[in-house]
Amino acid sequence: MKDRFYIRDAPEYAGESVTVRGWVYNKRSHGKVKFLILRDGTGFMQAVLVEGECTDEALDLFGDLTQESSVIASGTIRKEPRAIGGYEMSLDTLEVVHIAEDYPIQPKEHGPEFLLDNRHLWLRSRRQWAILRVRDALVFSIREYMRENGFVLIDTPILTGSIGEESGTLFKTEYFDQGVAYLAQTGQLYLEAAIFSHNKVFDFGPTFRAEKSKTRRHLTEFWMVDAEVAFCDNYENMDIQEDFIRAIVRKTVERCPEELEILERDAEKLVSEVERPFARITYDEAIELLKSKDFKVEWGSDIGGAAETIISENYDTPVFVYNYPKKIKAFYMKEHPERTELSLCSDLIAPEGYGEIIGGSQREEDIDKLLARIREEKLPEEAYGWYLDLRKFGSVPHSGFGLGVERTVAWVCGIGHIREAIPFPRMIYRLNP
Ligand code: 4AD
Ligand code: MG
Repeated sequence: MKDRFYIRDAPEYAGESVTVRGWVYNKRSHGKVKFLILRDGTGFMQAVLVEGECTDEALDLFGDLTQESSVIASGTIRKEPRAIGGYEMSLDTLEVVHIAEDYPIQPKEHGPEFLLDNRHLWLRSRRQWAILRVRDALVFSIREYMRENGFVLIDTPILTGSIGEESGTLFKTEYFDQGVAYLAQTGQLYLEAAIFSHNKVFDFGPTFRAEKSKTRRHLTEFWMVDAEVAFCDNYENMDIQEDFIRAIVRKTVERCPEELEILERDAEKLVSEVERPFARITYDEAIELLKSKDFKVEWGSDIGGAAETIISENYDTPVFVYNYPKKIKAFYMKEHPERTELSLCSDLIAPEGYGEIIGGSQREEDIDKLLARIREEKLPEEAYGWYLDLRKFGSVPHSGFGLGVERTVAWVCGIGHIREAIPFPRMIYRLNP
């Protein structure tokens, strides 16, 4: 397979004869000259058919070709700045592999529900192609960051007995004679166990929340990267997140110039957003800011999507909002030593209204306070014995965070709804395809 030609490598093949194995994205005729836009999964390229320069068979077959038909096309590559991708093929021979039936997705506007019903086909569209390549590059950059910075990968379970976040959004399934298993909302609690073995750890996997909300920021199955660090407080935790976000955004932009151009995403703007120090404001300050913008909010209430957008509009970097009221945050967060009504935690809000991308905190070490919070939240106490053990054997201050992959992809790509940031989105009203 090594010598096989792929469209992405066209610049290295200028003047050479190559074979493209791919699909017909579009076609048009201009008098005696015919044009095919081919795609092979690595890129898009125009093939030009000219009478006398290609076989007669190729000209005949051109007429039969429908959108998404699969073909094998051979010809010579040449530089053509006006063509898609900057190179085109002067076609010699054409072979048809399969003539596609009438393709439901046309090069025109379709409604979102129609496109989601046809997600298995929609994936082939140029924008969707670009988005999922950005996702791939982002995931690669995340794993690279973790490796380069000494984090050890710990694969945490998806079927769990203890509730990771909160009882309101659980998927449950029967589990033999063990009662109920919950699908993981986060791998965090298991990472907390692993820091005592490895110090700096991360996980990367699907997480599940039976979110009743139909917002543009919520999926029921999404991918999360959790990281956890021993001997780390809430401030250092924010420093790590800032360094992490700066690195992964830079790297993804570097890896995806063509994709971001297709998405009409201003890559320079994106990089400039992460270059400068991120804004950091307390929850108290965030509430004051919202009130000053005439947003209806009271101290003690959660900061939802609309409020996050208003906060982000006030800055041109991501913004940490830290130290939220304890009662609106998860049971495991460490209580503020002076203001016991607060938790030592932070949410990182992306610029331009893309919403919260990271939730993080310092973890409660005080076993009595932890147990009190577990009871207050009416979590099944018997399932947390192992978690409380971690506070009994060499307990240390520790902190961590979780990044939502789809929300980050949506921000980097500049797309309005996170359903396009995952190959097959799961939402309350969608399980297919
Ligand atoms: O803020 P969350 O709930 O934090 C946790 O789960 C912590 N245990 C993480 C940790 O400290 N290790 O979720 C983390 C991130 C959010 O900031 C958001 O980006 C994403 O996960 N997220 C969702 N993304 C899509 N759809 C949903 N329903 C999401 N819920 C959370
Ligand atoms: Mg959160």
